[in-house]
Amino acid sequence: MSVRGLTRLTKRFACPPAYTTRRGAMYCADSLQHLRLMPADSVDLVLTSPPFALVKKKAYGNRDAERYVPWFMDFAVEVRRVLKDTGSFVIDLGGSWLPGVPVRSTYQYELLIELTRPGRFHLAQDYFWYSPSRLPAPAEWVTVRKVRVKDAVNTIWWLSKTPFPKAGNERVSLEYSEAMRRLLKNGCKAGKRPSGHDISTGFRKDRGGAIPSNLLVISHTSSNDHYLRRCRTTETPIHPARFPADIPLYFINMLTDVNDVVVDIFAGSNVTGWVAEHARRRWLALETDRTYVEGSAFRFESDCPPPDNEFIGSRKEVTLRRLRVKSTPRRLPTGRTRNEAGAARLPKERGAA
Ligand SMILES: C[S@@+](CC[C@H](N)C(=O)[O-])C[C@H]1O[C@@H](n2cnc3c(N)ncnc32)[C@H](O)[C@@H]1O
Repeated sequence: MSVRGLTRLTKRFACPPAYTTRRGAMYCADSLQHLRLMPADSVDLVLTSPPFALVKKKAYGNRDAERYVPWFMDFAVEVRRVLKDTGSFVIDLGGSWLPGVPVRSTYQYELLIELTRPGRFHLAQDYFWYSPSRLPAPAEWVTVRKVRVKDAVNTIWWLSKTPFPKAGNERVSLEYSEAMRRLLKNGCKAGKRPSGHDISTGFRKDRGGAIPSNLLVISHTSSNDHYLRRCRTTETPIHPARFPADIPLYFINMLTDVNDVVVDIFAGSNVTGWVAEHARRRWLALETDRTYVEGSAFRFESDCPPPDNEFIGSRKEVTLRRLRVKSTPRRLPTGRTRNEAGAARLPKERGAA
């Protein structure tokens, strides 16, 4: 493949890519085996949605909750190795119920604890993705017996190799609310609030947008996009667990620069690669199921429109600023510069030698 800099990452792969684009390559391959063939410190962002530990399994197979953590940790060890020190590992995980009872599995929290043991990853931040359009499920507990409410939130763990991964929240800022716009215009009274927060005059400064929170409100709305239409007309199986483009778009914008390398190790219909391509990042995607790989290629046809994000935000009744798909941002701060800049000001860690 010809994408500059990616050849170095894939030169030990035995199989050729299923397809390549200007900036990336999709492999129909097992990601664990292939991560092991990739060089250390070579990737800026691994962004993925693995098979969840579901009781009612999807067509592509899911692990049981009890065996999930050891299964996933094999991948995590390799992801840590291939990540640069400034890199991030973002994992989208849906919740799960225990078989036969209205009780939740805690597998994604157990996984997080395992992933963040000393010498592994840092939890840069935990995110929650709320999808208002989620259907009420499981029917037995939610709509029949009515003893639970619908499960509409996925956890997204943003992990990093060092405490200061490359990141910039201004790259995913929201439109200011009406109230904030008024405040910017009229000013606010500086001073201590009952909450203890010290509101300085800095609050009056227009920073071009509001800082988002770690609650992402993103609906699963697309039912007739190019990918779906092409899958239907060619009778190619539609991937049953695609995430909305907003998810990769948000994290790619916030955590990487143009030309950085983004990898999805459970790529499915390759939403990550598609978004990365339009955001001008180099990308690598790995997926074991050939039919999903075939379908994912439809995203790169010339008549496929670019991803259109529609709803990222954390507040009701605000105009949400669209993230630009073609961003040409200034370089993001890296761990190194942040570390160095912050070193003088940071208090010594307790217990540190
Ligand atoms: C939740 S889906 C990902 C969906 C994807 N985010 C999308 O938007 O289409 C997880 C995918 O991981 C794939 N998978 C499972 N084990 C894998 C492995 N060892 N290597 C590569 N892909 C794998 C499954 O076939 C499935 O398509």
